[in-house]
Amino acid sequence: MKPQITPSILSFDPCMFGDAIDALTEAGGVDWIHLDVMDGNFVPPITFGADLAKSIVARTDIPVEAHLMVCNPDRHFDAFIESGCRRIVFHAEAHAHPHYHLRALRARGVQAGIAINPGTPVEVLKPVLDELDLALVMTVNPGWGGQAFIEACLEKVAQLREWRSDLEIQVDGGIDPTTIGRARAAGANLFVSGSFITKSPTVKLGVEALRAAW
Ligand code: DX5
Ligand code: ZN
Repeated sequence: MKPQITPSILSFDPCMFGDAIDALTEAGGVDWIHLDVMDGNFVPPITFGADLAKSIVARTDIPVEAHLMVCNPDRHFDAFIESGCRRIVFHAEAHAHPHYHLRALRARGVQAGIAINPGTPVEVLKPVLDELDLALVMTVNPGWGGQAFIEACLEKVAQLREWRSDLEIQVDGGIDPTTIGRARAAGANLFVSGSFITKSPTVKLGVEALRAAW
């Protein structure tokens, strides 16, 4: 599967999101923009909603995906689809009816994915394997940028790759040039990165360093 960089804007200064989107667009080599949507309930922080997604979609040609770290994610599907997000990812831990919601999303013409927390066994994805456009294996506990990569999650990536060779497998959390190579070797092909890019001298250099290390 083609490797792709899918930066999160979570660690950028919210007052400067427009500049961040421009920098990601001009950097080259950015395949998707990843929006970390948090509701203060599924995870403690509150971040942003579909209005910001709509504004970002209007500002860049890079496709935008919503990672919904929220309870009752289906309540938010319409708003994020209408905002122009091209992929919606919800958490296995937040919903008991994954087939129903994957099918509802795909019927609306967007890609559909399910995320699993570090403590969630990969087996929860087996029943829906053929209905997924993407599986997101969290490599930190969701809620905050800048946390340390949890190596043990790579076993789940390898298992998913064994089950389905054509699945988009995304890793999210602690991805930088020291971890991206191991994640790719395990079978991941989409890499979310937040704090590493914001700490890099420029966005472009950060993206290039990730691509050089995978
Ligand atoms: C965590 C988010 C991630 C996170 C990645 O809840 O889903 O997208 O912001 O940030 P870094 O790369 O700093 O771990
Ligand atoms: Zn995320």
